[in-house]
Amino acid sequence: MAEPMLQVKNLTKRFGGLTAVNDVSFTVEAGSITGLIGPNGAGKTTAFTMISGFTVPSAGDVLYEGKSILGQPPEALARLGLARTFQIVQPFAGLSVRENIAVGAYLRHPARDAAMAEADRVAALVGLTSEADKSASALTVAGRKRLELARALATGPRLLLLDEVLAGLNPSEIRDIIPVLQKVRAAGVTILMIEHVMQAVMSLCERVIVIAEGKLIAEGAPEAVVREKRVIEAYLGQGAAERLAAGGGHG
Ligand SMILES: Nc1ncnc2c1ncn2[C@@H]1O[C@H](COP(=O)(O)OP(=O)(O)OP(=O)(O)O)[C@@H](O)[C@H]1O
Ligand SMILES: [Mg+2]
Repeated sequence: MAEPMLQVKNLTKRFGGLTAVNDVSFTVEAGSITGLIGPNGAGKTTAFTMISGFTVPSAGDVLYEGKSILGQPPEALARLGLARTFQIVQPFAGLSVRENIAVGAYLRHPARDAAMAEADRVAALVGLTSEADKSASALTVAGRKRLELARALATGPRLLLLDEVLAGLNPSEIRDIIPVLQKVRAAGVTILMIEHVMQAVMSLCERVIVIAEGKLIAEGAPEAVVREKRVIEAYLGQGAAERLAAGGGHG
């Protein structure tokens, strides 16, 4: 079997007395869409910040395409083909949608015309062509989420980490963006996605990893994982058990 694209080994992050990510290990296979789920505050975003080089782990290792990437800054990782989106989207408000996407595209297309052409290609992929000339600040929430996806895609990733790109979207907007993510994967990009929208997790992810209170509590096919008692219990009390049942259709 081919080497996993990403191997997270005993990853740990402590903030003072709080262990936000506690000895978490998992792998992401090349070509897959893998979900990272878990209740609010579980440590999902903190895991992303370590994998993407924004924070140094307290312990553990991250291997990308078989090599440790610990200590490498985000720019270096982007060059290696590892990109992420942010849960809190912050486009450059003074720039157009196309220019915002081009900021990512300059990484592999240093000439302005080439970067703009790449931005247009990515805008088409995510369905932002008709908004390309608008100011980024004029976009709706759904548009901003697409822009966040586009900015990461424009860096030419092989592994894309998505932090709740569907949050704040209505059901029809979610339905519209699912095929976009399928196209991204079909184009050869491996995806690891943090997502609370279970309907999307169910239709996109072949595997999910569940963390709660910093610890990995389950992994496997989404249909199986959402039936696990530990997983249901982790969500209970947060009002998310119903969300799981609704998304999975397992009542
Ligand atoms: N920089 C920080 N300093 C101190 N504590 C932090 C820091 N970042 C995160 N935490 C804490 O670590 C825990 C995990 O947070 P994290 O943002 O990773 O959760 P999450 O799973 O992404 O949650 P959500 O689903 O709400 O986005 C939380 O208790 C959070 O308050
Ligand atoms: Mg988060």
